[in-house]
Amino acid sequence: MMLKDTALSVRENAYAPYSKFKVGAAIRSASGQVYAGCNVENVAYPEGTCAEAGAIAAMVAAGEKDLTEVYVVASSPQPVPPCGGCRQKLAEFGKRDVKVTLASVDGAELVTTIGDLLPGAFDASHMEDV
Ligand code: THU
Repeated sequence: MMLKDTALSVRENAYAPYSKFKVGAAIRSASGQVYAGCNVENVAYPEGTCAEAGAIAAMVAAGEKDLTEVYVVASSPQPVPPCGGCRQKLAEFGKRDVKVTLASVDGAELVTTIGDLLPGAFDASHMEDV
């Protein structure tokens, strides 16, 4: 299945009673497997867990740690930009040149990369003196 179809489909399962803003994410891993995630909110922390974080958690739970492509979709006037925390999570598991497609359900797409979403990212190389 295409990442787009997976992301659109899993978005339907989003649990977003507080923001009403449903997000779907699909990632492809190094093995070629596709993992899906949707946002899941709760009353104590209404922002909940983002769709991207859900997809990454599914990949890690399956024993994989390298993502090679990302697709995120929401119903928004502009293709939905990942939050700061999700940018760091994507950078943890994907190289700078990994393609990230941000989309809105009406079909608008913005193609970018993990590196462009998080320039100057903090990574393990910054801790080499420890
Ligand atoms: N959200 C995501 O799941 N991914 C994004 O890229 C942006 C925001 C969710 C979190 C929360 O459930 C809702 O959208 C509003 O912030």
